[in-house]
Order: sequence, then C-alpha cells, then structure tokens
Amino acid sequence: MMLGRVGRPALGVVQQAAASSLSQAAKEEACTWEVGEARGFRDIPQPPRSFLLGHLPLMMKKENARNQGIFHTKLQEQLGPIYSMDLFGDTMVWLHDPADAQTLLSLDGPAPILPGFDTFIEIRKLEEQKEFFGETLGLISQGEEWSKFRQAVQQDMMRPKSALYYSREIEDIAMELLDKIAGSRDVGGRANISTPCQEFALESIGLIFLGSRLGALQGSEDGRQLIESMGHLMAWSFPMLILPLKAVRWLPGFSETKRHLKHLAEIPNRRVNEALKTLDLDNLEDESILSKLVRRNGRDSKVPHVMAMDSLNAGIDTTAHTGAILLHHLAENPEKQEKLYQEIVEHMGPTGRLTPAALAKMKYLQACQKESQRLLPVVFGTGRQTQVDMVLGGYHIPSGTKVVRAGMITSVSSEHFTDPESFVPERWLRADPKYNTANSFANLPWGHGPRACIGQRFAKLELYMMAAKAVQRFRLEGVGESINIATGMLNIPDKDVRLRFMER
Ligand code: HEM
Repeated sequence: MMLGRVGRPALGVVQQAAASSLSQAAKEEACTWEVGEARGFRDIPQPPRSFLLGHLPLMMKKENARNQGIFHTKLQEQLGPIYSMDLFGDTMVWLHDPADAQTLLSLDGPAPILPGFDTFIEIRKLEEQKEFFGETLGLISQGEEWSKFRQAVQQDMMRPKSALYYSREIEDIAMELLDKIAGSRDVGGRANISTPCQEFALESIGLIFLGSRLGALQGSEDGRQLIESMGHLMAWSFPMLILPLKAVRWLPGFSETKRHLKHLAEIPNRRVNEALKTLDLDNLEDESILSKLVRRNGRDSKVPHVMAMDSLNAGIDTTAHTGAILLHHLAENPEKQEKLYQEIVEHMGPTGRLTPAALAKMKYLQACQKESQRLLPVVFGTGRQTQVDMVLGGYHIPSGTKVVRAGMITSVSSEHFTDPESFVPERWLRADPKYNTANSFANLPWGHGPRACIGQRFAKLELYMMAAKAVQRFRLEGVGESINIATGMLNIPDKDVRLRFMER
C-alpha cells in the first residue's frame, strides 16, 4: 500500500533546538522515505507470544522484568535490530540501530509524547493525589498541556549557568557526604555508599529548589521517608510503566505503593509550602529555582509548586545511583582515577574548591562522568509515541506507535564503541586518539530533544562535585564486588555499592 511521503513535522520553539543538532541531510533522509518501499508493520519480527495475553507473560517473567539489559540483548541476538511485542492490544517496537533512533527522534514534533506515563497520570488524578497537585499534571502531561508547562520552567532550569550558581553549596553538601562516609568505614576502610548517595542527591536538589536544607545527610525524618518511599516506587513501578491502572490496582503490593505515593506527595508539598511562605520576591539575592519560577509565573501559578515537588522526587534515585556507579567505576580503574586526581590537583589543588571556572577546564572529570553513564545508564532508553508515519529498520511504523530506543544496549555495543565494556574516559576527549566515532544517538543518557531531562544541569553538577571531592580526599578502591543491574523504573545496582576509602 502506498501511503506517500512522510510529512515533515512543524517545528515549535523547543523543537528547533533539538532538530538543529541533526544534519540537514539526515533530516531530509528521514523525511523522504517512501512508506510504500517499506515492509509492513505486521512483518516486524516478534518473539513467541501467548495466544491470549500476547507478550505480557514474557515481559513480566521475573528474570526478564528484573534485568531489561539482558532480556533485550537476547531479543536483539534472536530477532535483529528491530522487533515488536504485543501488550493489551498495543504493539510496541524496540530499536537497536542508532540511525533508526535518529529518525525517530528527528520526527518527534514540538511536543513529543513519552509513553509510560498514562498510569502515573491516572494516579495523579485520584482524589488523594489531587489534594497536593490540584489539576496540574506537570511534566508527566502530554501535548499542549506539557508544552505550556515545559516553556514555563525551561529557561530557569536549563540555562547553562542555572546550576553553577549553587556550586559552592553543593560542594559543601559533597563534603558532608564524604565526612559521613569516612565516619561509617569499617576497620578495612570499607563503606556502604548507596544510602549516603541518596541523601546527598536529595539534599542537593532540595537546596537548589527550595534554597533551604532538608537535613537528609543528618538523618531527618522527612529525608529518610522520602528515600524509603522513592526506593519502593523505583523497585515496584515497572508494571506501572506497561500496565493500565485498572490492572495495576490488582497487583499484590499496590496498597503499600499507594501509601508510599502519598509520602512522595505529602512531604514535598509541605516543604514547598513552607518555602513559599517565606519567599521574599524582592530579595534578588534569593536565587532558589522556586523563587525564579514564582517570579516568572506569578504567586498564583501552580507551576513552581508542582515543578519543585516533582524535582524533589525525580532528583533522588536518578542522581544517587548514577553517582554511586561513577565512584564504583573510578575505584575499579585506578589508573583513570590517578589521571583524574592529577587534573584535580592542577585545577583545584589538593584541598581547594571546585569553582565554576575550574570545572569548565576539567575535561577529564566530565569525561569520567560521561563514560560511567555510557557503561551503566540508569535509564533504559528513550521512549516515544510516534505522531507521524515513518520508516524504521525498513518497516512502516504508523503514527501512534510506541517505540523504545534500547539505549542501554547500544551504548555498550561493539558495533559503536571500541572495547565497549572498558571504562575509557579518553573516548570523550576530542584531542585523544581514542576519541569515539559512534553515532551520537548510540549514547543518550539524558534523552533527546524537547523532552530531554530537564534536571540534567543540576544532576551533572552534583555528580562532578561528588566525584571531584571524593577523589581529591580519598584513594577509592574496589572491594571485589561487581555491580549487576536490577531494573525497576530505573536500572540500579542490585545490591548496595561498597567501596574502600583510603585518605590521601
Ligand atoms: C543522573 C541523573 C538523571 C538522569 C540519568 C536522568 C535521565 C532522564 C531521562 C533519560 C529522561 C527522559 C528524556 C527523554 O525522553 O528524552 C528524563 C526526563 C526527566 N527528568 Fe531526568 N534524569 C536525571 C536527573 C533528574 C533530576 C535531578 C531531575 C529534577 C530536577 C530530573 C527531572 C526530570 C523530568 C521532570 C523529566 C521529564 C521531562 C519532560 O518530559 O519534559 N531528572 N530524565
């Protein structure tokens, strides 16, 4: 069937920035495929399915749900770079070829649709959540509603300098983290860093948004409860990404999940209300993100409130596990750690501060962070619901299809990276002979385009601070434990990360 030329999507304000990162040739190629030349959607390879339940049993099988990396690597070996699975009458597609990811994301439109939020949206509309969020869904919404909300927060959260303003305070919090880790070491110098990293991430994002301290590293009750509830949600939420609320409701443990969801709304809501009460908008020295958002959107707007609440939640486990994994990679690679230490001594000195000016010069620190995320990204990949017909992997993909870029597999594939399993920060240094030549769509740990992670500037600052201050003070050593991944909403270490911290 000839469906004709795939239309070029209209570019909106936010979309333009994303689309400009694609070469004109790539855009032309993506847009001039004749759908009639492609094979049909139903011809996309599939693993064996159950007659009644489609691929649900395969996806929910414990070992598959628990490690999406292994599951999808096997599927790719069996079925090739594109395959689909059926779920509740919907057919979802997975992509392993970065060129297809590039096509998908270049045809995203001005308001890309992120699949997987439907159940979270339904939950937010329940009476017990409405009490905290009102009618405002924030960035889990879609379409026009998402677009308006994103434009209302984009500049204050994504401006390159927006995070650097807080560098001194985040550095203080990083030093508190290291004091805590130092104090918890056993006689062999070993410490468990998983919970302290969560406390660090929560404390940092709280400071950035509210301009005040939550006391998470000091064991405050709010901090402890938020971390516990977020941990529960992360472990439990995989079904919520793929099942509708009417099915999730009947799963064992849903009532406990609802209790945790209440904590995750009630505590940030109370903290944000407290911060709003003391806000002095005329005091331009108050540069918390909440103040900036209220100045921009007005006191009556729900935007600052909901964005701050969501950030207190979104900024805990994402940054914490990424940070713990980064310290693990540095500990396991002493030569690279030593190279980083030399850079630290050169730009910060053996005990000095990490100023924004020093950070701008510390390319090896930035490369270590990027390389660690390439090896073990906490987010599986990039999901989109297509809004135009397109051709991916030689197959016609109708508008409205849910497609997932299998990012955590392409970023460690030997097709794109030399010696892919090794920690080689040099591959991110332009002047280095090891500089990678991979298609940039093979490694997108923050997503891409208008819906890319809005907290990435804050998260990166926290990660740089954590790693620079840790290596400045300690020689990090592994304790002989490798990290395996457990998939929930995120890919996180399947056990607490323990390292040896030797004072320099
Ligand atoms: C290492 C830490 C983090 C990682 C790896 C990460 C990763 C991601 C990814 C992959 C996406 C989806 C992007 C896409 O589909 O194109 C995303 C979206 C998002 N992230 Fe992050 N994130 C991190 C930290 C944070 C923090 C600290 C915040 C809060 C300030 C945050 C808030 C959000 C929000 C609100 C969205 C949805 C954006 C939208 O749909 O407009 N993230 N993040």
